[in-house]
Amino acid sequence: MASLTIRQLDEQLKKQLRLRAARSGRSVEDEVRTILRAAADEGGADAKETVSAPKPARRTDEAADTKRVLLIIGGGIAAYKSLDLIRRLKERGLYVRCILTKAAEHFVTPLSAGALVGEKVFTDLFDPAGEFDVGHIRLAREADLIVVAPATADLMAKMAGGLASDLATAVLLATKTKILLAPAMNPLMWANKATQRNLAQLVADGVALVGPNEGEMAESGERGVGRMAEPLEIAAAAEKLLGAGASLPLKGKRILITSGPTHEPIDPVRYIANRSSGKQGHAIAAAAAAAGANVTLISGPVNLPDPTGVNVIKIETAREMLDAVETALPADVAIFAAAVADWRVANAGVQKIKKKTGQATPELSLTENPDILSTVAHRTSQRPKLVIGFAAETEHVAANAKAKLARKGCDWILANDVSPQTGIMGGDSNTIQLVTAKGIEPWPTQSKQDVAAMLIARIAAEIWK
Ligand SMILES: Cc1cc2nc3c(=O)[nH]c(=O)nc-3n(C[C@H](O)[C@H](O)[C@H](O)COP(=O)(O)O)c2cc1C
Repeated sequence: MASLTIRQLDEQLKKQLRLRAARSGRSVEDEVRTILRAAADEGGADAKETVSAPKPARRTDEAADTKRVLLIIGGGIAAYKSLDLIRRLKERGLYVRCILTKAAEHFVTPLSAGALVGEKVFTDLFDPAGEFDVGHIRLAREADLIVVAPATADLMAKMAGGLASDLATAVLLATKTKILLAPAMNPLMWANKATQRNLAQLVADGVALVGPNEGEMAESGERGVGRMAEPLEIAAAAEKLLGAGASLPLKGKRILITSGPTHEPIDPVRYIANRSSGKQGHAIAAAAAAAGANVTLISGPVNLPDPTGVNVIKIETAREMLDAVETALPADVAIFAAAVADWRVANAGVQKIKKKTGQATPELSLTENPDILSTVAHRTSQRPKLVIGFAAETEHVAANAKAKLARKGCDWILANDVSPQTGIMGGDSNTIQLVTAKGIEPWPTQSKQDVAAMLIARIAAEIWK
């Protein structure tokens, strides 16, 4: 069937269409669909067959519970990451519209952003077609959240000063919608008193922030605070701001998580253990439950409260943990965050081993514990769709984790460096490298809760794709 685009129509017809669309509050495309649908209905059955029905009558933004994000991309080097951010927001079932500033167009094109959002990208305040079609006031009004990423020093200054000199700033000024900024700039620009003054003003005005993070800058050799938060962090912050109405991305899914250390007895009163606190595994369990999952947490001995809404099974040894894991199957996803002892004492005393003066010290003979991650990953029945392990390494973190992924047969490994100087074991923050068959993705250093939120978002995207 022949196709006709709106651009091919004559100017007079386009003008009439724009006016009709503006009056009815629809986009030009939707107006055309409405006219065609009405014509098809009037023409009876024959006409319905020949006039190809305009594809889905509902636009994604019209679904009652779909939250709408307007993403404004500023003119910074981190703009390329905002293309990934579009994907991350859409993964969460959010409807995304996008504005590129003039400066942003030097870094990414409207074509690439448009391909990712799946519709026209807005760039010009004085575009007559744009004003009739959606227009800056509609852009401002039809969003549940506005995300500015990267928020450049210039955009922040304009916002703090109340300027409306281009489409992005006009929209930002014409809205009551919550705004989330992801600043990104050179550390000296960020530390500059003017930027800090603008930041203080924006925070006082109620603008929310994600980042900037500390780290390597795009400019070679530069480090400091000014790096844009990672797309997944921004998406998680956006979802949080969208609040109670945001989706429960793991609703109805069964998630099995192990956490904490295991204790391997030497005798009834002594044991071999490790420094795992269980903070990461417990945070993942809490995040999964908050995302609507049905969570079973199998935990070694820890000093933490049970996460709310989670079925907690407490065990001590690696063998008990394996038993509990196998009993808890089937599950959609299994996450093995526990630091399971590799070995146990083969000749553990049934009674307390007594110290006897003059006698040789007792010798402990170790034997290997079952490998819980590998056992579950290699199951031929009831293997969870996604099996995720942790790799606690003290050297060659990425290389060891890649080897572990292949050896254990699991789908993802979250590798972290647990050398004492990192403070990760028992600490409150974590630096993860996500290792999958596709490659290695470094995550920023962040709280264990934020790691958990990022992981849950990734899992949701994976299991619904
Ligand atoms: C290569 C290059 C990289 C830049 N990166 C940044 C940046 O990361 N952050 C920033 O605030 N400005 C950056 N700038 C400066 C902005 O592009 C400039 O201030 C621009 O006016 C910002 O436009 P906007 O308000 O549309 O974002 C960069 C400029 C160039 C030429």
